[in-house]
Amino acid sequence: MRRKVEIGILAAFVVAGLSLIILTSGRPDPRGIPAVFATPEITIRNVTDEVVRYWIKPADSTEKPLYKELPLGAIHRYPGTRGMVVTFVKGGNTVENTLASGLPYSFRYDEKDKLQIYQGAHGRADAVDLAPFVGTPMPVVEKMLEMARIDGRDVVYDLGCGDGRIVITAAKKYGARGVGIDIDPRRITESRAAAKEAGVEDLVKFICEDATKTDISRATVLAIYLLPESNELLRPKFEAQLKPGARIVCHNYDIPSWKSKEIDSIVMKDQLDEEHTIFLYKR
Ligand SMILES: C[S@@+](CC[C@H](N)C(=O)[O-])C[C@H]1O[C@@H](n2cnc3c(N)ncnc32)[C@H](O)[C@@H]1O
Repeated sequence: MRRKVEIGILAAFVVAGLSLIILTSGRPDPRGIPAVFATPEITIRNVTDEVVRYWIKPADSTEKPLYKELPLGAIHRYPGTRGMVVTFVKGGNTVENTLASGLPYSFRYDEKDKLQIYQGAHGRADAVDLAPFVGTPMPVVEKMLEMARIDGRDVVYDLGCGDGRIVITAAKKYGARGVGIDIDPRRITESRAAAKEAGVEDLVKFICEDATKTDISRATVLAIYLLPESNELLRPKFEAQLKPGARIVCHNYDIPSWKSKEIDSIVMKDQLDEEHTIFLYKR
């Protein structure tokens, strides 16, 4: 009888231990927190050049909003499963935005240099948020590769590769080798699956890391779709690591202080009739 209880207790410990291992062994959280302990959180990053003042409250509450000051480069975190309403002053007007639970956001300037809040890619404090995930439409990808005159000798790098479509297309259509970098592990998983599906696994490689830390000296072509301030942030890396003759092709946003290096740009429409600009530079 006693022995049965002891065996029962031992079995309960083994089951509990195994459950904990199974629960915590899912895909690692990007911040290194095991999935079971990670709480969804809204993050708000300040990517402007001023302290951002805003008010915040849960979307479903009638509470008085809390006043917050977000220093330059800092991140505020709001754990929980509720959406939040953020209010701030934009060019003299008070504007209100509802933020969805669990997503990263950034205060940035819009095209008119006015404060705006945008969805981001991640809330990691150890890496900059270069741009949220938005895939380049396929006709634009094709045109970017055509403008960069890709051939089978090229090594194409995409910093912030999303689902890998640019390097995969370069490999499939031109036989070029490619490296895609993304900070979001979900994007890397998608990219590897897409490369397999396209039959170009031997030509392309996808790495999950902060693109500001990637060595791009092997690239003969760099194809990017990032925000203009991110392009500018990465520019010293392009200047230091890319070899003379390397081509840099950018979707929608140029490299602000490389105006004199621009060798071509086109405006085109995608399949939904939306306009896109492509900028081409040579190192
Ligand atoms: C606008 S998407 C571009 C996707 C792809 N290049 C395309 O054109 O279809 C930007 C990508 O940058 C990634 N990203 C943002 N910050 C990053 C960082 N610090 N390092 C690497 N990737 C980053 C995001 O996860 C997102 O997938």
